[in-house]
Amino acid sequence: MQDNAAKTPVTGKARPHESAPLHVTGTAVYTDDIVAPAGCLHAYVLKSPHAHAKVLSIDISACYIPGVHAVMTAKDIPGVNEVAPVFTGDPVFAEGEVLYAGQSVLAVAAESIDIARRAAHLAKVEYESLPAILDVHEALKQQKFVGDPYVMKTGDAAAALKSAPHRISGTLDIGGQDHFYLEGQIALATPHENGEVHCWSSTQHPSEVQHLIAKVLAIPDHLVTVEVRRMGGGFGGKESQASLIACVAALLARKTGRAVKFRLDRDDDMIMTGKRHGFHIKYDVGFDAQGRIQAMDMLQLVDCGMSPDLSNAIADRAMFHADNCYYLPHAVVTSYRCFTHKVSNTAFRGFGGPQGMLAIEYVIDDIARHLALAPDAVRRANFYDAMHARKDRAVTHYGMDVEDCIIADIFDRLEKSSAYKSRVAGIEKFNAENPVLKRGIAMTPVKFGISFTLTMLNQAGALVHVYKDGSVQLNHGGTEMGQGLHTKVSQIVADVFGIPFDRVRITATNTSKVPNTSATAASSGTDLNGKAAEAAAHTIRGRLAEFAAQQTGDVPPQDVKFADGMVTAGSKSWLFRELVNLAYMNRISLSANGFYKTPKIFWDRAAAKGRPFFYFAYGAAVSEVVVDTLTGEYKNLRTDILHDVGRSINPAIDIGQIEGGFVQGAGWLTSEELWWDAKGILKTHAPSTYKIPTGRDIPPDFRTALYDGENIEDTVYKSKAVGEPPLMLGISVFLALRDAVARAGVPMPKLSAPATPEAVLRALNGHGGDI
Ligand code: MTE
Ligand code: HPA
Ligand code: MOS
Repeated sequence: MQDNAAKTPVTGKARPHESAPLHVTGTAVYTDDIVAPAGCLHAYVLKSPHAHAKVLSIDISACYIPGVHAVMTAKDIPGVNEVAPVFTGDPVFAEGEVLYAGQSVLAVAAESIDIARRAAHLAKVEYESLPAILDVHEALKQQKFVGDPYVMKTGDAAAALKSAPHRISGTLDIGGQDHFYLEGQIALATPHENGEVHCWSSTQHPSEVQHLIAKVLAIPDHLVTVEVRRMGGGFGGKESQASLIACVAALLARKTGRAVKFRLDRDDDMIMTGKRHGFHIKYDVGFDAQGRIQAMDMLQLVDCGMSPDLSNAIADRAMFHADNCYYLPHAVVTSYRCFTHKVSNTAFRGFGGPQGMLAIEYVIDDIARHLALAPDAVRRANFYDAMHARKDRAVTHYGMDVEDCIIADIFDRLEKSSAYKSRVAGIEKFNAENPVLKRGIAMTPVKFGISFTLTMLNQAGALVHVYKDGSVQLNHGGTEMGQGLHTKVSQIVADVFGIPFDRVRITATNTSKVPNTSATAASSGTDLNGKAAEAAAHTIRGRLAEFAAQQTGDVPPQDVKFADGMVTAGSKSWLFRELVNLAYMNRISLSANGFYKTPKIFWDRAAAKGRPFFYFAYGAAVSEVVVDTLTGEYKNLRTDILHDVGRSINPAIDIGQIEGGFVQGAGWLTSEELWWDAKGILKTHAPSTYKIPTGRDIPPDFRTALYDGENIEDTVYKSKAVGEPPLMLGISVFLALRDAVARAGVPMPKLSAPATPEAVLRALNGHGGDI
């Protein structure tokens, strides 16, 4: 897919990730690959061995072995001992009390990582162990929360539940997930003149890292520059929690006057950083004979860990997705943000949405099994109607009109392309013939709300320079974590100027170029930064068009054309670079910034009503599995996906996101199991005990297609966000496993997530939920 030709437009065409050749040749520079400045020191953090304890004393006198340059505890922080993103509660170093096993207590900077580690363990820290809250039920009992409980409701659920012809209730436990980005958390900080600090950080949120470094050092933001070339994956784990790493590096750099690198190894990364939130769900649902939901009462107990971090926004998103694609005429969704003495849980692809969505999908599955109806039929009966069809079944439980619902069409198409019906018949036949192996299948939909639910965050900036040779350099607020954001934004900007893709170069994200940015998160990187970059490029193009029009006098500026590397104003044409050079000589500015904010969105938190999302992204997946009923082992045999990305900016990147998201979602719900012991110590902190999906877990028959449509809203190129929604397609694997268990003779199997082989075996034996 080489594209050096001057053929434009480049948007809408499949092309490789802009760094693909670097990725595959090992020459892409990650933070750890940056050539370290002379005298660079290495940091190590001493972790709390207790989930909850009073810190009685810290004696660091033994730490100063040869090669150690600094030892820091909470009292050595010049500014505020706090790296929380929104509220408070995330100290750099524990002060007086430790609230989870793995919390940082002190840090050492030394000439090697081995010396730093050895020195840190020479500290004498006295603890008095205290009772710990280790699950949501205990937190609820003690009323210990990291935020206020929150309720979203519509209609009168209690009354409608009473009058419903059918009613069932149940519970579901949903496990968390470690991000397992290939590149762990890391930062490299260097001190400069006049108190300035520069930090290379593997973060999705450079502006927040900048701000927090300034806060811990008690210096203004303008003395701090944070830079990100790329991350080796973030998945939400570097939205807020890269800050601690960067702040430790910056504090030690300031204290020693040397460059300091702080890199967590895999075990420390898994122990010290937050994960996807585990949930406990309780539901009570009333429905008619067709399985159409009349009322739902859902309780979500969210395991937030020891601080708020982003938990309140994440718990909100779980509530927003408690409907998935289904109209709920009467509903009440209640959320408790439970405090536990565990690492503070954080953003993870889907940001609470997956847990909310799995819950309602499980409920739908229950309804179908209760009524002995086909689950896909019950799903269809409950779909939101498209607004233009019937307005009365197209408003969410939080008062947002669903104006773009295409899920019924996606379901129809996928059902055909995957031969769903005939495969169900095939499964019945297979199961009748096989006493031990049983197959199951599930087709599940996704509707995911696009926008940060905190309206303020939906803004972005960009800075575009056109150099005299006609090459374009650009910077925007977004960060690259493998998702292809820079590729898409380059495509968009190349098309504004009508130049080939490789004439556009995106520099490392840098807080000194575009300020006050939002995290690259909520799947909105391209929506926000693509629009901002497009606006900046249009400003320069406008100046060039006016200049070109003046040169010929043939046409007005708006009729000047930019295509195939040429600029044409009526009778006259220039190569883009010729016109740029001419414009420069005529003193026309060739640099501009751009800004974008998402229109239409608002959220009234007190009323729990509004339009938190600009639009929804949709998709559906069918997965077919086979289960060994003697052992609980299973295999995903085939997955078919039809996913909506609006008008695709880059189908190759989009399909990559869809496939990757699906596999990551399936991993969350099958093999990835986090396990803490009775003292709250995480025992699954390495790939030896925590199993992420590998190549062998990808279904041998895997078919992904893009839904042919465009965004009805005015997004860049009429595209839709793609980063997170496909993760929830993995729910099809979980429910296919449940289906196989049901077909094996357990009519209403209880299956909690993750559905490990052990969990599947328990479900087969009729006691799925209990451990
Ligand atoms: N894809 C890759 N390869 N690596 C990542 O870390 N993060 C996901 C998704 N896809 C991620 C990824 C998450 S959690 C989000 S929010 C989006 O990418 C962020 O990028 P975008 O907004 O540009 O889609
Ligand atoms: N999604 C992802 N990240 C976020 C959000 C959100 O809605 N809000 C704040 N950070
Ligand atoms: Mo993604 S969880 O919004 O970083």
